[in-house]
Amino acid sequence: MALIDANAPQTEPERQRYYMDLLRGVTAEREAAMGRPFTFHVETFGCQMNARDSEKLIGILVSCGMHETESERADLVLYNTCTVRDNADQRVYGRLGVLSGYKKENPDMLIGLCGCMAQEPSAVEKIRRSYGYVDLVFGTHNVYALAEILYHRMTSSGMLVEILKEAPGAVEDLPSERKYPFKSGVNVSYGCDNYCTYCIVPMVRGRERSRRAGEIVSEVERLATDGVVEVMLLGQNVNSYGHDLGDEVTFSQLLRRVEQVDGIRRIRFMTSHPKDLSPELIETMAQSEKICRHLHLPLQSGSTEVLRRMNRRYTKEQYLELADRLKEAMPDLALTTDIIVGFPGETEEDFLETMDVVRRVGYSSAFTFQYSIRTGTPAATWEQVPADVVTDRFGRLLKLVQEKAAVFCAAGAGQTLEALVEEADEKRAGYVTGRLGNNLMVHFPGDASLIGSIVPVHLDTARGFYYMGTRA
Ligand code: SAH
Ligand code: SF4
Ligand code: F3S
Repeated sequence: MALIDANAPQTEPERQRYYMDLLRGVTAEREAAMGRPFTFHVETFGCQMNARDSEKLIGILVSCGMHETESERADLVLYNTCTVRDNADQRVYGRLGVLSGYKKENPDMLIGLCGCMAQEPSAVEKIRRSYGYVDLVFGTHNVYALAEILYHRMTSSGMLVEILKEAPGAVEDLPSERKYPFKSGVNVSYGCDNYCTYCIVPMVRGRERSRRAGEIVSEVERLATDGVVEVMLLGQNVNSYGHDLGDEVTFSQLLRRVEQVDGIRRIRFMTSHPKDLSPELIETMAQSEKICRHLHLPLQSGSTEVLRRMNRRYTKEQYLELADRLKEAMPDLALTTDIIVGFPGETEEDFLETMDVVRRVGYSSAFTFQYSIRTGTPAATWEQVPADVVTDRFGRLLKLVQEKAAVFCAAGAGQTLEALVEEADEKRAGYVTGRLGNNLMVHFPGDASLIGSIVPVHLDTARGFYYMGTRA
């Protein structure tokens, strides 16, 4: 760290609480000088992990007396970034350009960049070189230390870059501001050990580290006391949860413990790596009243040869067999997936294998991505598929995915299912939007007082990938 404070406690979270106290003082001074509140905005890019980290960042800033605002014309703007594909990086660079304009209007404005891009040395180099107006850069392992980093930046000048290569051991028990009062993500593990040959996540998030089951369950209990009814257990590969812990609690056993928490009515989790999905998990899901009938099971490719080169460690047949077993145990299960098109060396035949799996599994939805070169990963140096071929395949896949999603959605119309009301419908006055257990959305007449409650809704009509309904 740039400055050394001999009075700071050496243990966590006490050290961060000390810096939060100091920062509260600095914020108050700034507010007195400006004659108005000190505002901040945190913008989240990327996955649920980042969304959860942002809640922690916001929690720390609020505890330091700062005021959250929707606008990026704020005194502090933090970009919590994603670097999984090149377009994620480009989006951030573009928006940093916009922020430089705001900073000209408010020269005391602080601009920070954190998250996965910050763990990428080449991105940090580019920020130093071309985005000199950025005030602080910190990595995915430093989220808990925001108060300390920000305090040092606000009492000095110049760009402050603080990136830990390794996680210091999870620091929990710090404040966090949930985006929704009624649902929350809960980290079960950090990082990833799978090293799929296209993927940068293990490099930017580090080795897999599971949290102790007791700690996770206590967090869920606290959330339930606080009014949370739905939890989403988060990990890059939840199915390998606990492998790194001595006490050998499996993910299924963890789910069973979370299920016993009173007040929690719905449990979701992501992501499941097909290679580690155990028969025990299928049984646990099938028997559970609380685990939602939705499973995100990334396929990536339907070609066994491509899967081998991706280092996914399952074959097309094993994946299909797993999907069959899941559907057999839970006929109403919605399966969703991630698919990469144009992985190096992907032939037309390989691609048709992917189309075949999509046709056979009948996903309720699928995220489709064009392969993006990530420097430092093995596949980056392999022979690439020409861009026009990728675009063509991508279009064909997207069309099929949408057709299959519409079939899934249509099959559900006419039922009455429980929906967790998440928000007022943005497009239709007098309507609210609810999420079904299977993760599809339904819009139905209702008012904001319903937000956060679980109500039965009749699914009147299917509209491709969502429903219009009425309260039953
Ligand atoms: N841990 C999760 C996914 C994390 S990244 C899992 O294993 O499923 C989310 C998705 O981004 C991946 O499932 C993959 O489909 C996609 N992805 C990752 N790296 C990519 C790359 N280099 N190019 C295109 N898509 C990529
Ligand atoms: Fe990336 Fe593979 Fe790990 Fe998922 S399992 S985060 S795709 S390396
Ligand atoms: Fe992106 Fe980092 Fe998630 S790279 S997908 S935000 S783990």
